[in-house]
Amino acid sequence: MTRNIVVTSALPYANGPIHIGHLVEYIQTDIWVRFQKLSGNHCLYFCADDTHGTPVMISAKKTGVTPEQLIKKVYAEHRNDFARFLIEFDNYYSTHSPENKQLSEYIFQRLNQAGSITKRNVRQAYCDNCNMALPDRFIRGTCPKCHAEDQYGDSCEVCSATYRPTELINPYCATCSKTPTFKSSEHYFFKLADYEKKLKSLFKKGHIQKTVANKLNEWFDAGLKDWDISRDGPYFGFKIPGEKNKFFYVWLDAPIGYMASAKNYAEKNNIDFEDLWNNPDKELYHFIGKDIMYFHALFWPAMLLGSGFKTANKLFVHGFLTVNGQKMSKSRGTFIKADTYLKFLNPEHLRYYYASKLTDSIDDIDLSFDDFINKINSNLVGKFANLASRSGPMLNKKLKGRLGTLDKKGKILIGKLTEPAQQIKNDYEKLNYAAVARNISRLADLANQFVEKQKPWLTINEDREKTRNTLTAVINAVKIITTYLKPILPQFAEKVQKFLNLDDLNFQNIKDTLENQNINKFERLAERVDKKNVEKMMEETKENQDQNQKTQQPTNLEPLAPECTIDDFAKIDLRVARVIQAETIEGADRLLRLKLDVGGPEKTVLAGIAKAYNPDELTGKLIIYFANLKPHKMSFGLSEGMILAAGTGDKDIFILSADAGAKPGQKVS
Ligand code: 2FM
Ligand code: ZN
Repeated sequence: MTRNIVVTSALPYANGPIHIGHLVEYIQTDIWVRFQKLSGNHCLYFCADDTHGTPVMISAKKTGVTPEQLIKKVYAEHRNDFARFLIEFDNYYSTHSPENKQLSEYIFQRLNQAGSITKRNVRQAYCDNCNMALPDRFIRGTCPKCHAEDQYGDSCEVCSATYRPTELINPYCATCSKTPTFKSSEHYFFKLADYEKKLKSLFKKGHIQKTVANKLNEWFDAGLKDWDISRDGPYFGFKIPGEKNKFFYVWLDAPIGYMASAKNYAEKNNIDFEDLWNNPDKELYHFIGKDIMYFHALFWPAMLLGSGFKTANKLFVHGFLTVNGQKMSKSRGTFIKADTYLKFLNPEHLRYYYASKLTDSIDDIDLSFDDFINKINSNLVGKFANLASRSGPMLNKKLKGRLGTLDKKGKILIGKLTEPAQQIKNDYEKLNYAAVARNISRLADLANQFVEKQKPWLTINEDREKTRNTLTAVINAVKIITTYLKPILPQFAEKVQKFLNLDDLNFQNIKDTLENQNINKFERLAERVDKKNVEKMMEETKENQDQNQKTQQPTNLEPLAPECTIDDFAKIDLRVARVIQAETIEGADRLLRLKLDVGGPEKTVLAGIAKAYNPDELTGKLIIYFANLKPHKMSFGLSEGMILAAGTGDKDIFILSADAGAKPGQKVS
């Protein structure tokens, strides 16, 4: 029976690039989705950028762009990185979308109606200099327990103590270093504890892995607390209906982003969203990392239960990535960006390596680069690709690219290779990709041993037809092994398909044999990993990090205005102008009204230079004029264009003047 499945991966934040740590999850999910599709199931994979919250707002401010501009840029980068790692979403959307706004408001309203929302005052840190409430991570100070300096507002990295920002000694704003004030503000809370019973019964039905269940029991024992779901403005997010300056906390609308992505897909494809998302006959799975279990195992199902939506069939939780045995860290240079990896190494190599490590456990997986090089070179190149290169070229060159039939020995080999098909499928289904990889490697060994025993390179001189049949068995082995590998190595599989002249390789046609037909020209399927490339990638990562550190050092620089392109700049038309008359303006002590001869109809400009120039000294002067600036209304009249002057203000302003021989209206470059 065809299953209908909807799958999601956690939504990456829109304030940073995809790195190899993120990729564990997207690769894990993508392999599972591809496996389902290859098994004939109907499976859709949805994701989106997680765009809201203070970090996005602050990153945008730091780079001098609006949050909307930042998330647009990051969206394009994320999509590009995912595509290059062959992560194939059915829809990749954004939480900053009309669908998400509407669904967030709807769910909030339903929760409110169900009596699951309450309001109360909280004391929160506020920076008067930055004009914003400071989330725990944006306030720093001395740890109240161990007195380590420069710790976050919620926890100490030195002694692991957790505390409230109000307890910090000498707190300061992480952005501007000013001492924050603490203010009281009314917030909305979701009454999570009301859902304890329902959540427990959900978990009994197998909503989560066993190890996750243990963690949840700890949380239940500690007691479920109300969850603060609002934030005061300025905040980049969705305004709470009926409020002036309160927004939904990013973690409220983020998981709703899964639904919004599905809704957007439904709209684009003309299908019923309610049926796609809420039909109990359709399966729903969320892939997440263990750091966001609390949100996905408690808040999210409780929100769904409270607002009348179904919950997921299961959460698939994975562990973190360590690199060379250690936690990923910027200072160790192991925060390798997807983009940096791709400059030096092959995306399918990482897909294969992660697959060879992944199980259904929440234990961390380690990327050791020596092991990586070894595994790719010995398995992917030495076993899988080698099998094809031991049969394809000889068939092409010596046997006109024509397959024969499977003889007895060949049939035995093929029987051994197809026999574990069900086991491999079960392992894929249960996320035991490491077992899949081991099994495939064992099968490739069998096939390679077959080649060694049959010695086609010798028999070709004695018995061409026997050799043709031997190679036919090897080609069939290539087909079967590649089918098993296809969820992990889609591009490799595509090359094999082309070489074997096949429309499709999938789990349904795994037992179909290839006999008495032609194959195409053989092309190399995989290249060895060169250690030098790994080293170059690490070097570049380190350089990027050093560069970042430099730009993140505290600076007195005010945030830059949004980027301006050379094309924007080229639009400015500068001309010479003569000041016909200059006069002060009553009530505006910084402005002068200038009448200008610009070579055509006279123009009037209001210029903020009154502290630096007397009107008298300006009359008759030749100056530079921004001629095509759209006239703009000021409270003291219309200003048509602008004159060029620069300086830090008050007396420190200097007009750009033109040469005495210049003519009004003349172009200036
Ligand atoms: O932890 C994170 O990276 C979050 N952006 C994940 C959000 S997942 C979902 F809830 F949106
Ligand atoms: Zn500040």
